Amino acid sequence: MQQANGLVVLLLIGCSLTNLACDAQTNEKKESFISGKTAAKALVVTYSYTGNTKAVADEIINRFKADAVTIMAKDYDSFSGGLRASYDAWTEVTLTTIEPETVDMSQYDLVFLGSPIWWYRPAVPLWTFVEKNDFTGKAVVLFNTFNSRFKPEYIEEFKSLVEKNGGQFTDHLYVKRGRWYAQLSKVELLEKFNTQLDIKEESYNSIISNQ
Ligand SMILES: Cc1cc2nc3c(=O)[nH]c(=O)nc-3n(C[C@H](O)[C@H](O)[C@H](O)COP(=O)(O)O)c2cc1C
Repeated sequence: MQQANGLVVLLLIGCSLTNLACDAQTNEKKESFISGKTAAKALVVTYSYTGNTKAVADEIINRFKADAVTIMAKDYDSFSGGLRASYDAWTEVTLTTIEPETVDMSQYDLVFLGSPIWWYRPAVPLWTFVEKNDFTGKAVVLFNTFNSRFKPEYIEEFKSLVEKNGGQFTDHLYVKRGRWYAQLSKVELLEKFNTQLDIKEESYNSIISNQ
C-alpha cells in the first residue's frame, strides 16, 4: 500500500515536471488586470499557467470588446508551487488562494471563464473563482486549452457549480493542443479557437446586445 502511494506521488511529480517543462517555453509574467471602467457587456476571466489559455482569452477580449480579469494563484507559482498545483488538481481540490477573489460583475451579461485542463478538469483557481462569485443573470462560457483530454464528468460538475451560483452555463469551448511531440503552434492554436468563435459570434453578440 505504502509502495502504491509512493508510486502515485512519483507519477504526479513526473507528470507535472513533463507538463511544466513542455510549457515552459511559453511561460510569461502574469499580471492581474481588471478593467471595469468601460461600457463592456462581456467579461473574460482567465487563469493561465504558461500563456496558452491567455492567448486564446485575448482573442475573445478583442472580438467582443470585453473587459478582462487575470486570476493569480500565488501558491502555485515557483517550482514547488507547480507540484502543489498538480497535487491539488489530482485530489480534486476546488479552493486555493486567488487574486482577485471576487469581481463586481453587475455590468456584464456574458462571462467567459478560461483555464488550462489539469488532471482532466479545469484548473483549481477557476473553480475557486466560481465558488466565490455570484453569476446571477449571466450567461457563462467555459473555455479551456489542454494537451490530450479532459473528462466530461468534470465539466458537468463545473457547470453545476456555475448554476448553483446563479449562472446560465451556455457553452464549453476548447482547443486540444496535442502532446509535446506533435503540438499546435501558437498560430494554429488561435486559428482553431477562432473557428469556434466564428460559429458562436452571432449568438454571443445577441446575448450582449439584447439585455
Ligand atoms: C499539472 C498539469 C496537469 C495537466 N493535466 C492535463 C490533463 O489532464 N489533460 C490534458 O490534456 N492536458 C493536461 N495538462 C496540459 C495543459 O492543460 C496544457 O498544456 C494547457 O494548454 C496549458 O495552458 P496554459 O498555458 O494556459 O497554462 C496539464 C498540465 C499541467 C501543468
